[in-house]
Amino acid sequence: MEKDGVSKSARVLWKLSCFFRKFIVSTLSVGPIPAHVAFIMDGNRRYAKQRNLEEGEGHNAGYLALKFMVYYCLELGIKHVTAYAFSIDNFKRSPEGVQRIMDLMVEKIEEELSQVDNTYSKMGIRIHFSGNLELLSQPTKDAVKRLMAATAKNSKVLLTICFAYTSTNEIVHAIEQTCQEKMADQMELEEPNVVKLADIEKHMYMAVAPDPDIIIRTSGESRLSNFLLWQSANCSLICFSQLWPAISFWHLLWAVLKFQRNYYYFEKKKKQI
Ligand code: FPP
Repeated sequence: MEKDGVSKSARVLWKLSCFFRKFIVSTLSVGPIPAHVAFIMDGNRRYAKQRNLEEGEGHNAGYLALKFMVYYCLELGIKHVTAYAFSIDNFKRSPEGVQRIMDLMVEKIEEELSQVDNTYSKMGIRIHFSGNLELLSQPTKDAVKRLMAATAKNSKVLLTICFAYTSTNEIVHAIEQTCQEKMADQMELEEPNVVKLADIEKHMYMAVAPDPDIIIRTSGESRLSNFLLWQSANCSLICFSQLWPAISFWHLLWAVLKFQRNYYYFEKKKKQI
């Protein structure tokens, strides 16, 4: 018998997997849990191609995979999740390809806001968009701002979606903002108004979250692709050969176990800096 389009056997299977995950999570929680996990969601178009699907179906599947991943992070007690959803370089793709991702973004935001599928709000997830949002069309910018405002009071997990983002753009933007601020303050000072690291970091798009502990990249690539370059000095990059829509709880579990194994080494390294 189906309820909300989901069969009874699928529901039983999901409940069983929840029970199993709870057991694993309680075991893992004995060790340190990463505060921030970031994802480079690579391989959505290849996933669609492999299955003879339309390109957009790959991104749809990728969106669903992200939702599950955020849920698993919530179960594990990971407070910050970041996803690289659209880089500034992606604007160089075909206009149809760019429009498809923009449309998907607005469609998903509208679903979340209209409570057709407001799973993020129900889970207590705050959603923040990081990047040069000025590059987005007015309707996309408006939708993004409405979702940030609607979820601003949620506090279980902060999901940061990097959209129209590259690290180099983030760094240039932060330096510009810092210089403007310093020049404005200089008028009232006799001493030179020196730029400090904290001044620049305050203006980073990613200032909303602590530096990531783990960056996970799918589809067999092991590059950072202009993602969180400033923030990843002490972070593990973990790469999986699976395409993003095929990522599962087991990949996250593997990454957390690796984090726990290297935890004391990384903590020692951080203190040496
Ligand atoms: C890179 O893989 C991924 C992207 C350009 C975007 C990923 C976007 C999603 C998974 C949807 C997220 C949507 C929202 C609304 C947050 P690719 O698509 O370039 O695929 P490829 O690596 O196979 O070429």
